Amino acid sequence: MTRVPLLAGNWKMHKTVEESRAYARHLIDLLGADPPLGREMVVIPPFLSVWAVCRQFAGTGFQVGAQNLDLGREGAMTGAVSAYHIAEAGARYVIVGHSERRQFFGETDDVVAEKAKAAHAAGLSPIVCIGEREDEFDAGKTEEVLSRQLAPVLAILPATAWERVVVAYEPVWAIGTGRVPTPAQADHLAGFIRQAIFSAVGQTAGAVRILYGGSVSLANIQTFWGMPDIDGALVGGASLKAADFARMAAVPLE
Ligand code: PGA
Repeated sequence: MTRVPLLAGNWKMHKTVEESRAYARHLIDLLGADPPLGREMVVIPPFLSVWAVCRQFAGTGFQVGAQNLDLGREGAMTGAVSAYHIAEAGARYVIVGHSERRQFFGETDDVVAEKAKAAHAAGLSPIVCIGEREDEFDAGKTEEVLSRQLAPVLAILPATAWERVVVAYEPVWAIGTGRVPTPAQADHLAGFIRQAIFSAVGQTAGAVRILYGGSVSLANIQTFWGMPDIDGALVGGASLKAADFARMAAVPLE
């Protein structure tokens, strides 16, 4: 099954609305109306900028995502933003279960699965983030952790949903640290994730894009992206400059 390579930039809590618009314009200036080499590019700004970046990208091939969603559609939930709102603003993607949400906002594996379901139900593609902490890595528990995090997502989503689901393998110890697993390690784990999805839903697993994330930079992106089971990258800090993000999208793969 062919999988369109995907480069996603997670800005986290960076950039105002005006800065976000300027970034989107800059990306179009640099690359034209479409990402290079038939790849897909997704910019994932803070909520306040989602609509503005969608407007800026109108008529281009660039996509927008949100960094989180809250459950439900509408209601008395002060401060909440639903998948319905994100989709209506024009975004196609939403990150669920980023390790910072798990760590700082107490999101459990089950909540993450519920969010993936809500995203899918609203027509969005969830980017489901999974990954082990450093102590779990040191204890050799990486596969166990990935299986545990994936299980409720596999249980809750219908098999057909997986055509649209993206999984990002992000070792927590690699996020924002400058440390990375070897490309072979990351690829092995991407293969492990694909096998787990295959066991649950069969052939559709071949359509799921699996990204590597954690200290991806212009200097190392090629080594990860070139691996057989890695279909792209979820980039944090190194995506904050449009010029760098544009260059990453154009790296040749062997
Ligand atoms: P980083 O973040 O590239 O800054 O390590 C990646 C992420 O958290 O998605």
